Amino acid sequence: MASDTNDQRSTDKPMLRALGGEAVWPPPMWLMRQAGRYLPEYREVRAQAGDFISLCTTPDLAAEVTLQPIRRYGMDGAILFSDILMVPWAMGQSLRFAEGEGPVLAPIRDAAGLAALRPELTVEKAAPILETVRLVRAALDAHAQKVTLIGFAGSPFTVACYMVDGRGTGGAFHTTRHLAYADPGLFGKLIRTLIDSTAEYLLAQAEAGAEALMLFDSWAGALSPSQFRRWVIEPTAELVRILRKRLPVGYPLIGFPRLAGPMLAEYAQRTNLQALGIDTTMDPRWAAQAVAADQALQGNLDPISLLAGGMALEVEARSILGAMRGRPYVFNLGHGIEKETPPEHVSQLVRLVRAG
Ligand code: CP3
Repeated sequence: MASDTNDQRSTDKPMLRALGGEAVWPPPMWLMRQAGRYLPEYREVRAQAGDFISLCTTPDLAAEVTLQPIRRYGMDGAILFSDILMVPWAMGQSLRFAEGEGPVLAPIRDAAGLAALRPELTVEKAAPILETVRLVRAALDAHAQKVTLIGFAGSPFTVACYMVDGRGTGGAFHTTRHLAYADPGLFGKLIRTLIDSTAEYLLAQAEAGAEALMLFDSWAGALSPSQFRRWVIEPTAELVRILRKRLPVGYPLIGFPRLAGPMLAEYAQRTNLQALGIDTTMDPRWAAQAVAADQALQGNLDPISLLAGGMALEVEARSILGAMRGRPYVFNLGHGIEKETPPEHVSQLVRLVRAG
């Protein structure tokens, strides 16, 4: 790993400083799903690519859409354009994105299904995604921009939800949660497979030039506290242990245990992450006292307030800024941007946050 270019301890990039524990103000910002269908320039490239998986695996196009929100809004973070489900795809599980329906996978619910996966091929098959990371990093470096390139993966539990249920299910994932109770041995093997392949995949992203890594755990909040400890906290802590052994000291890792509620405190204490993403439902003042003062928080503007714009947006954004002032913090949404969001509402938000 190129430790000189990846040294987070002496950086002038605002987002890396905030993730490193500094109370940078005005706070650095980026938005979850900042590259997406609300942008006309994204829809154009998406149409050119054909289907969504082709877009994720065509480095020139994926790099282009990663950079679109940077050009348009000057965000402090560029998030790699890909998807959390590219890990099961790279392990050989069949995946398609059905129009208007979301992801559809051939569900894995028994030992034979698990045995058919090829986790050892993950990094090899993900080569085009790693190439996208290289292209984006080179483009950012060429313009000497103070933009942080964020790599990511889904957390083992959330990815397992899609692998077992086979589709979004509106977030219920009954089959997955049932399997976790009924056959914890099998479910544990799936989680173990995901920990190892996700670790290799994330390390490869860091190697290719990602300067921070984020773990999306969108469905963490679907679990009881004991299941949350077993399937969210423990696997995340294990994944972080593996990553820390092989990443430069202080390399920023962000966790996003969506809808964790009060379990956030335990998650923050036990996983050894630098930063915690907080979702829309969380009181930012509660979060600010629930995690250590040197752990950065990231979030949590309601994407619906961004859709609404105007005064409603202003009131929501200011209230979050007020709660986060004086602590390490990265402005973001509490979940992904809505596809109907007018692009000028994002401009309004950027002006507001930049004014502190
Ligand atoms: O801009 C970014 O944030 C980077 C790219 C990114 C995407 N998905 C692109 C995408 C990231 C970080 C994700 C993460 C992701 N993917 C999560 C975790 C965050 C969350 O939203 O909870 C999850 C659960 C997924 C799985 C997934 N991918 C679903 C359920 C869907 C269908 C819903 C939808 O919005 O269409 C996707 C598709 C997807 N991933 C799109 C994008 C831009 C839309 C595809 C298209 O353009 O047709």
